[in-house]
Amino acid sequence: MAQREIVRFGDDTLRKKCREVTEFDEKLWILLDDMYETMMNNNGVGLAAPQVGILRRVVVIDVDDDNGKIELVNPVIVGMRGKQVESEGCLSEPGKYGYVKRPAKVKVQALNSYGKPVTYIGTGLLARAFCHEIDHLNGILFSDKVIEWVEEE
Ligand code: CO
Repeated sequence: MAQREIVRFGDDTLRKKCREVTEFDEKLWILLDDMYETMMNNNGVGLAAPQVGILRRVVVIDVDDDNGKIELVNPVIVGMRGKQVESEGCLSEPGKYGYVKRPAKVKVQALNSYGKPVTYIGTGLLARAFCHEIDHLNGILFSDKVIEWVEEE
């Protein structure tokens, strides 16, 4: 595994729409491993492939719950309910936090690293992470949705 460099806000890469994954091979597994290591080393709870410069629909999430590491390939939100407004940040914009409205509960369908269908239901932080990371795959950043920025210390 290797840590990869994180692309920062302002870079065009983060504004591109990512392409679907079609090959479930060693290259994908290495990307997933590297993304997870990069996320954990930076104390993040989610990371999307464009944040390491790869324009593919790949996400890793770990909100330190019973799910542990979640790997999502070609994820799609298929259901959402309720709303929550909490402060949110991004590893591509360290130190900046803002309040964003998200669904309280989200259902996601995706493929795992072997191309097998998986379904997740998330509430709270996990629901937020699903929305934030899947937004990244469509070139959308949390800053686009901030209702109010958290004052810097
Ligand atoms: Co982000």
